[in-house]
Amino acid sequence: KILILDFGAQYTQLIARRIREIGVYCEIWAWDHNPADIAAFAPKGIILSGGPESVTEANSPRAPKEVFDSGLPVLGICYGMQTMAEQLGGRVEGGHHREFGYARLTAQTHCSLFKGLVNDAEGSPTFGEGESWMGDQGGTPVAATPDRVALDVWMSHGDRVTRLPAGFSAVGSTDSLDLAAMADESRRYYGVQFHPEVTHTKQGAELLRRFVVDICACQTLWTPANIIEDAVERVRAQVGTDKVLLGLSGGVDSSVVAALLEKAIGDQLICVFVDTGLLRWNEGDQVMATMAQNMGVNVIRVNAADRYYAALAGVQDPEAKRKIIGKLFVEIFEEESAKLTDVKWLAQGTIYPDVIESAGSKTGKAHVIKSHHNVGGLPEHMKLGLVEPLRELFKDEVRRMGVELGLPREMVYRHPFPGPGLGVRILGEVKSEYVELLQRADHIFIEELRAQNLYDKTSQAFAVFLPVKSVGVVGDGRAYEWVIALRAVETIDFMTAHWARLPYEFLETVSRRIINELRGISRVVYDISGKPPATIEWE
Ligand code: XMP
Repeated sequence: KILILDFGAQYTQLIARRIREIGVYCEIWAWDHNPADIAAFAPKGIILSGGPESVTEANSPRAPKEVFDSGLPVLGICYGMQTMAEQLGGRVEGGHHREFGYARLTAQTHCSLFKGLVNDAEGSPTFGEGESWMGDQGGTPVAATPDRVALDVWMSHGDRVTRLPAGFSAVGSTDSLDLAAMADESRRYYGVQFHPEVTHTKQGAELLRRFVVDICACQTLWTPANIIEDAVERVRAQVGTDKVLLGLSGGVDSSVVAALLEKAIGDQLICVFVDTGLLRWNEGDQVMATMAQNMGVNVIRVNAADRYYAALAGVQDPEAKRKIIGKLFVEIFEEESAKLTDVKWLAQGTIYPDVIESAGSKTGKAHVIKSHHNVGGLPEHMKLGLVEPLRELFKDEVRRMGVELGLPREMVYRHPFPGPGLGVRILGEVKSEYVELLQRADHIFIEELRAQNLYDKTSQAFAVFLPVKSVGVVGDGRAYEWVIALRAVETIDFMTAHWARLPYEFLETVSRRIINELRGISRVVYDISGKPPATIEWE
């Protein structure tokens, strides 16, 4: 396994994901995590991440000396390279203009990091805003000269290393940067100024593979099948013969937990699925068909639509609606669990990004804390132990695990759905007649996205119900009916997003179908707001 020390870069999670994709387990620790823990963790190599600070400033973060005392291979990326250079006796200077974007790196293939790589095609690719999936850039690879290779890499830095520490040699440069990569092969220390973890650095994953597999000698055993086997054993050891309760939402994380626990402990698992009446079209039945019928999971379904609609009657304010929906969930979940006897554990679909975000660095500078908006929290007084088998996994690992466990791909690769569901997609007061129109409009949109192979190219897509009336013509008559807005976005992290450039013909089809098939809708509009400033959801 590999240890990643985080200096607060936006990209640190990406480093970890790339390494795991290679098949090697890794963890992210804040740079000021107690260094005494490193020996117990026993990594085979250490990566120092990038970070927003400047090595040239007093009191900026440094790698603990245990890193260099350990005798382990070390790879410094961006800030990580700079602090390594500085700590080992080199020099870092600020005051240069910030370099951001593509650069052509000439690297030495005698360095173990670059050994065997081939030249990237000439001509730097460029992306326009929101164009990431609109077209691939081609090009022909050029044979590498024996000792050098030309690579497209992604840069984002202000400071630079200007003098190498003793023992290091320069192994990569760009037009504007002499020391873009450095290495001390005898101590197995490497530094790169660019970011191998982002996909813009085309052979970045290959470079990371050379570090973790060739240099650190990690084995690539972190595969979905192994992860499952390991998790199954751990859950069995943790809960023994006790019963475990799980709130099933129909989302990816709770479904994967359910499938995993079913495999680990079978009927000791009891799932409670609250059908809020605010789910997608037909979703309640689908959850039951997939989880209960096909997978044999023990699921108690609670049809609570009427309770939700009653609780939401007359409520306009989005935050008030969120609170009511969350609170009611906890209430119903408690009622159901009170009927069960002997339950000792509560299973949850917490995943690694949640864990990293709530841990963060003690300096508090490292992470932008994303607000968690899951449905409710569960009450303390339930006094159940927690089972969190996905705590160490990234979303893409959870998905691969889900497929391996036999969940339908379609479910596992589904767009995210907010906890409060359609409650925040019907603007203002929620009424059951609105819910039905919205569910059907949304279903048409999603069905067409799937039919035209656009579903996987958007990160999230859905319909929104606007309770405003607009005039239309139906046959010979005048219609005065509701409006549906379509929203589709592309995003990596859901913190920022572009509206998806869906083809006009496609939008036309969806609009026509919604207006023709749904009595009560006379107009369809498409949302072309980016985030920021608009959020993805309308409420
Ligand atoms: P916004 O609207 O904040 O959404 O741009 C970002 C992502 O979060 C989802 N979202 C929620 N998820 N409870 C949730 O579990 C909520 O209250 C909630 N609000 C927004 C949204 O669907 C998008 O994926």
